[in-house]
Amino acid sequence: MIRKIQFKENSKFTKIIIKNKYIDFYLTKLIKSKRKIYCLVDSKLRYITKKHMNKKNFIAIFVNCGENIKNINTYNQLSNKLLSENIDRESILVAIGGGTLGDLSGFIASTILRGIDFKLIPTTLLSQVDSSIGGKNGINSSFGKNLIGTFYHPSEVIIDANILKTLPKREIKSGYAEIIKHSLIKDLKFFNWLEKNFIELIKLNVRILEKAILRSLMIKLWYVKKDQYEKLSNENSRAMLNFGHTIGHSLETYYKYKSKLNHGEAISIGMITESIISNKLGYLNDNNLNLIINHFKKAKLKIYDKNISKHEIFRNIVKDKKNTFNSINIVLIKKIGKPFFKRNLKIEQIKNILKKI
Ligand SMILES: NC(=O)c1ccc[n+]([C@@H]2O[C@H](COP(=O)([O-])OP(=O)(O)OC[C@H]3O[C@@H](n4cnc5c(N)ncnc54)[C@H](O)[C@@H]3O)[C@@H](O)[C@H]2O)c1
Ligand SMILES: [Zn+2]
Repeated sequence: MIRKIQFKENSKFTKIIIKNKYIDFYLTKLIKSKRKIYCLVDSKLRYITKKHMNKKNFIAIFVNCGENIKNINTYNQLSNKLLSENIDRESILVAIGGGTLGDLSGFIASTILRGIDFKLIPTTLLSQVDSSIGGKNGINSSFGKNLIGTFYHPSEVIIDANILKTLPKREIKSGYAEIIKHSLIKDLKFFNWLEKNFIELIKLNVRILEKAILRSLMIKLWYVKKDQYEKLSNENSRAMLNFGHTIGHSLETYYKYKSKLNHGEAISIGMITESIISNKLGYLNDNNLNLIINHFKKAKLKIYDKNISKHEIFRNIVKDKKNTFNSINIVLIKKIGKPFFKRNLKIEQIKNILKKI
């Protein structure tokens, strides 16, 4: 599949290209443009930039990636490195890596010299179907995930499914969790399609994979276009993309962003828990809840964490960005494909439900 999608935000265009085995050709073309290219690269993907290292206008900086790079110290260290290498306002910053590197690089690109051209080459399934689109970037704080960041769109996003062939199964399933989320918040037909095709998808069948990536991106884009800055408070709000994330982020903060749970695993547990909350509050019927739980079980996604009702988890839920004052605002679902924003839930109501899971 070769697909080009272009969208405009604040008079700035983002071009998304989905094309198999395209990265090398793309990088070569970019370097030929003679602009200075600064590449932040996940050190596991060093091989991608190897043949370009001798080019005068190309500098690659390798980063050992994982959730722990999304912090102010790494931000500082990489910005200093770029400045010491004379990055200027005409330079291009390219990130080649997963969502952690993408989030950190986007934040650097938006702040260094008050913002420079930014291009993203996402290399995990999660980043290809989700984090590379939408313009959100950021770093974590000890107060919670992604609490410091900006909205800043890359000018190009290059999605090459072939790069996923070295990705560990655990990370593929992590990305699959965001794909299934997109079906749950928008598209029953897509959910049913995933029921039929998820085994081939997880085996990285390129035809199935590219279809799922494209549909996922289109769902995300639909929400982003409706509500770029997350201002709406109805079912078209970009906040719907946070389904599973109130609980998921609380778990990630609880585990201090260590590898015990990756992002996809945390939000898998989050989606099941938030579906159970939707069901207990009378919004989601048993049949839909069982369909969701059964699919997660078949795909071997995590559905439960033994610390889910710990005091610290509730404390983290209260700190979520979506809340106002002391009441909880959370995305719940009425049925597969129909999410909504539930306002003013009391933490006690959530506690009572979680304690019985
Ligand atoms: N900005 C957004 O809108 C948005 C949306 C969803 C998630 N996120 C963020 O994305 C992050 C998670 O991203 P992620 O799951 O990509 O994590 P990640 O960047 O840590 O990548 C996961 C692991 O895969 C390795 N890796 C990357 N590409 C590889 C490849 N091709 N082959 C082999 N190994 C490879 C990495 O080194 C890392 O060990 C979280 O911080 C989450 O908050 C952001
Ligand atoms: Zn997510």
